[in-house]
Order: sequence, then C-alpha cells, then structure tokens
Amino acid sequence: MTNQLLLNIRACDPATMGLEVLEDAAIAWRDGVISYFGPRSDLPDALRVTDAIDGGGRLLTPALIDCHTHLVFAGNRADEFAARLRGVSYQEIAQAGGGIMSSVRQTAAASVEQLVASALPRACALAREGVATIEIKSGYGLSLAAERAMLQAATALGAQTGLQVKRTYLALHALPPEVKNDSALRAAWIAGVCNEWLPALVQEGLVDAVDAFCEGIAFSPDEVRQLFTSAHSLGVPVKLHADQLSNLSGGALAAEFAALSADHLEYLDDAGIAAMRASDTTAVLLPAAFYCLKETKLPPIASLRAAGVTMAVASDCNPGTSPQFSLRLAMHQACTLFGLSIEEALCGTTKHAATALGLTDRGQLEAGLRADFALWPVAHPAELVYWLGDVPAALWVGGRAFS
Ligand code: NIG
Ligand code: FE
Repeated sequence: MTNQLLLNIRACDPATMGLEVLEDAAIAWRDGVISYFGPRSDLPDALRVTDAIDGGGRLLTPALIDCHTHLVFAGNRADEFAARLRGVSYQEIAQAGGGIMSSVRQTAAASVEQLVASALPRACALAREGVATIEIKSGYGLSLAAERAMLQAATALGAQTGLQVKRTYLALHALPPEVKNDSALRAAWIAGVCNEWLPALVQEGLVDAVDAFCEGIAFSPDEVRQLFTSAHSLGVPVKLHADQLSNLSGGALAAEFAALSADHLEYLDDAGIAAMRASDTTAVLLPAAFYCLKETKLPPIASLRAAGVTMAVASDCNPGTSPQFSLRLAMHQACTLFGLSIEEALCGTTKHAATALGLTDRGQLEAGLRADFALWPVAHPAELVYWLGDVPAALWVGGRAFS
C-alpha cells in the first residue's frame, strides 16, 4: 500500500501528552502502521502526498481499547434488573439459579451465527465511539461445545467487522447446578475444564488469555490456582475477576501468576496492591458494574495510584452487571464514581488498556505502532469523558477507515 496522510487535525495522545493538544498535527501511515505522528511542519518530505485526507480540524487520539467485555451473549436479563430494583441482590439472584446461569441457558440455545448477529450492534456501538480493539470473554457456555461457540462467535465478529478482537476463555465463571454442591462432581468438572477443555480450545487457536471469577458465589482461590497452573503450562496469559463482591485476596492471587490484569477490585487490600505492583499486573476498573449493582464499596484508587499500579478502565459490557455498551460512559463513571482524573480515564482506555491485554503495538500515536486512531468532533480531549451521549468518531483500524 502507498503512504497515507491525514492533515488539518489537532491531536492528543494521553499517555505522552496528558490533556495537551498539538495544533496543526499530521499523521502518516503505511501497511497498517504509523510512519509519522507529530507537527505538520516536521512531516518528512518523503511522506507528503497529493491526496491527503482532510481532518476538518477535528481531534485525533489513539483508537480506544475496551479491555474487558462479555460482548457475546444471547438474550438479556431485564427481568433481573427489575428484581434488583425491588431489592433482591445479585448474589440472591445467582443463588436462585438466575444471574450468570440465566445467560448460560439463553446462550447455549443460540448458534454461532445468532451469537454474532446479537453481538454485532454492540460492537458497532463501541466502534462508533472510537473503539478499535475489544476484548471478548466466553463464560456463558459451561460446556466445551458452547464455550467453543462463544469463542468462534468472537473470532467471527472480528473478521466480519474488521475490528480487533482479543478472545479470553472465561473458563471458571459459574458451575453447572448439577455439580455445584457435590464436592466430587465439582472437582471433576474443574479438572475437565483445566485438563481437557482448555488444552483443546488453545489447540484450536481460539484463546488469547484465560480468566476466572474468584468469588464466594463462584470459584475459590484454590480452584482458580488449578486453572492458572494449567494455563501457564500451555503458555497462555491469565486475567482474573478479583475482589469484586468480597475480599478473597484475588489481587494477590492474580499477581502470583503474573496475570496481565486483575479486574473489578472493589475489595482489594494493601497486600494485594503491593503484589500487583510487584508483578506489573494492571488494575482494570469496571465502574459500570459498580454503578449497575449500586455498590457502595469503592476500589482503593488512591492507594493504587500511590503504589504506581497501572489502571485501565473498561465497560464490562454483559447482560447482568453491566448492560452498557459505551466505553466513554465507563470513563465518565470512572471519574465521577471512582475519582479518576480525566487524564487517567483516557490513559485507561488507550495505553493502559493495551497493557491489560499484553499488547505493546497499540494505544498510542507513535511511528511503528498500529495505525489505530480516532477522529472526534470535539475541541478538547476532556470532552471525550465529559459528554454523555453520542459523540461519533471516525475510526481507522490498522490503517483502514472503519465504516
Ligand atoms: O464482570 N463478575 C462476574 N462476571 C461478570 C458478570 C456476569 C453476569 O452477571 O452475567 C462481571 O461483572
Ligand atoms: Fe466481567
């Protein structure tokens, strides 16, 4: 491909520039990779072209990255939302066979094509707000066939849309009711997940990372350890839903396995923070789930910040705790509910979100990185976090204009 060039833009790369704006910027790319980003006046002659794209004075940023979603699922759980409004808790709904199991039943009944079709509008909504890379978890399958179908749907969604999809096998999310309360059956089911399903799905090339839900209503730290040990032996990185509803030392557990990220973290303690810092595990904050569950226990943001733990922000889009397909709204919630600065929220959905996925080729505007960027009809980067509602971005993914 020939060199391409975008001019008449203003630009901000939050990771290197904070909220500063570079006036009269230029970005050039070739074969999907940025070849120049900086002041237009410094653009090398060799990169000048006659048919440069006119940015119309809009604001350029790195494309956003949603590093924690459950975007592929069937049906919805509006009935549970209504029940929670009547005072029934998320845990009570789960214990009564609803919650994740409700989505499992709905998802198991859907074909791969139906899963792709239902996830497509959610992916398009994210793309419309400048998201080029979406992490998608399985976890509503609970059988090898249904987990495979979810991961295949995530793969197909990326191929069909041209968006970058990273697939996480959420291997331990919930237990089938028939094995849940029988310790021998439970152990056998978990052993099957670790020793049969995981190697099979990895072998089929469907797994970029492995995840688990470590919680009283889900899996114990020792059960998670078993899974992570298997993942490590296969060379697959791990992530963890940790310390969301109670403190099970999930942050420290994630760190023990050098996890890419520990996510949620409302009940994370000081030992967990120190362990995460030492293992370079990113803290993925999910304020939409906090908001939807009307939680009151805040994640320890000030301590994470003081310790220098990398903080990312994601939508956690899922049919139960976060029926929200807006990453910009999650940034807004991270600021208003969790006390992040606007700059932290923007870094949390660009460079730091890339780190949470183990990706070093994106998240910034820099020569040599992927040409994933967004062009916004706003004057200042703070507006990306400030406005509630539609701020349509023009999006380039791997140098191709997304439409
Ligand atoms: O990230 N915490 C566990 N998993 C999801 C919720 C799943 C669901 O309720 O369907 C989460 O919040
Ligand atoms: Fe989640």
